[in-house]
Amino acid sequence: SVVILDFGSQFTRLITRRFRELGAYSVILPGSASLERIQQENPQGIVLSGGPSSVYDEHAPKPAPGVLELDIPVLGVCYGMQYLAQQAGGDVQRAGKREYGKADLTEYSGDLFQGIQGEFVAWMSHSDSVTQLPKGYEVCAKTEDTPVTGIQNSQTKRYGVQFHPEVVHTPKGGQLLANFLDICGVERDWNAEHIVDELVADVQKQVGNGKVLLAISGGVDSSTLALLLAKAVGDRLTAVFIDHGLLRLGEREQVEAALRPLGVNLITVDAREQFLGELKGVDDPEQKRKIIGREFIRAFERETAQLGSFDFLAQGTLYPDVIESAGGPHSDKSGAANIKSHHNVGGLPEDLKFKLVEPFRTLFKDEVREIARLLGLPEHIRMRHPFPGPGLAIRCLGEVSEEKLDILRRVDDIFISGLREFGLYDGCSQALAVLTPIRSVGVMGDERTYSYTAALRAVTTDDFMTAEWARLPYDFLATMSNRIVNQVHEINRVVYDITGKPPATIEWE
Ligand code: XMP
Repeated sequence: SVVILDFGSQFTRLITRRFRELGAYSVILPGSASLERIQQENPQGIVLSGGPSSVYDEHAPKPAPGVLELDIPVLGVCYGMQYLAQQAGGDVQRAGKREYGKADLTEYSGDLFQGIQGEFVAWMSHSDSVTQLPKGYEVCAKTEDTPVTGIQNSQTKRYGVQFHPEVVHTPKGGQLLANFLDICGVERDWNAEHIVDELVADVQKQVGNGKVLLAISGGVDSSTLALLLAKAVGDRLTAVFIDHGLLRLGEREQVEAALRPLGVNLITVDAREQFLGELKGVDDPEQKRKIIGREFIRAFERETAQLGSFDFLAQGTLYPDVIESAGGPHSDKSGAANIKSHHNVGGLPEDLKFKLVEPFRTLFKDEVREIARLLGLPEHIRMRHPFPGPGLAIRCLGEVSEEKLDILRRVDDIFISGLREFGLYDGCSQALAVLTPIRSVGVMGDERTYSYTAALRAVTTDDFMTAEWARLPYDFLATMSNRIVNQVHEINRVVYDITGKPPATIEWE
């Protein structure tokens, strides 16, 4: 394995990701991890990550004593390189010129650049630079502004790069990291099957003979988690799916049909009346979210109280959630419930007395999708767009009623099925239908109508923080509009949302 010591760079997790893509196993440990802790991982190489500090800061983070004396290759990235250089007797100074963004390497050579040819665009973000090489080191990369952009000591196998090879803005960075893996002699046999086996073993070790409870949302993370846990602990898993009445057409049945045959002990709870009752007369979006969140907890607690006692609560927390919910990847939150504070329904109360099982804490979404494939989750769930916890309630503008939800469900189903039918679904990051409270005049046959307007929205995005509206073909939109007004009589007008985020959000509420 490769141990990555994290000194606080926002990119550290990308290093693991690149290694995994290259088939190598790596773990991130806090920069200050003890030598003993690091040795537990049987490391064949160490990466010192970037970080916001300067090696001259009073509290500049450093590896524990002895770590750099290990007889294995070390790669320092950005701050990591500066630390390495300084520690080996070189000099680091505040650079005359800060370098931020893309830079071309004017020269490169040596072990790390083995087999790399042509221009090398490197992504930089630093204000300190190595100004004097430590003994035994040579320069292996330069840019116009930074004469020492890469250093190597082939004898001791110590390497450093000032740029970030792990980000996409360094297109040939993957090759560089692959070269480092070769230098370390790390096996390249780490794949999703391995990950599944290891996750299963980890869960078995953690849970022992305990009983595990899991709330299922119908999304890919919790569904995949259910399959993984069923594989690991069988019937000692109880998965609870709460139907809050705000689901899409046939959704509950789809989840049941996907999970039960694969051995998941799944309990579905019909809480539709409870939710719709509480939502009556409420038209403020945030109020709706609050009520749904609160009722979800009530329903979950009521249900699980009847199911006996549980030792563990499983959650589909992913790596990005861990980073975002403060503390970073190395903060030890085991024991204390680190529940997504996000406006997620499925957020459970903090005082549930469970230990947490979070097997996906180190994984990215696409890795979970890969695991889902191996575990047999049906494609339509595996590759599904995200769906908000409050469900159709925030797509049914204003007050929610069973009647409006029923209209919206049919419109949504036509649109989403249409996207799949025309091969457009996977090209969108998220697509949805909205039932607006606007009623307008139309004509159908010889009759004047006065009915609702439905809005369709489809977006493309990498991170859901910003988004572009999807440029769906006119002909497709025309077909959707026709189908919707013909099949859903309560609708006489269909509009397509052509607003980006910002200024609009993806959801309409
Ligand atoms: P917005 O509308 O903020 O949505 O652009 C960004 C992403 O978040 C989802 N979303 C939610 N997810 N509970 C959730 O679990 C919510 O209350 C909620 N509101 C928005 C939205 O579907 C999109 O993917």
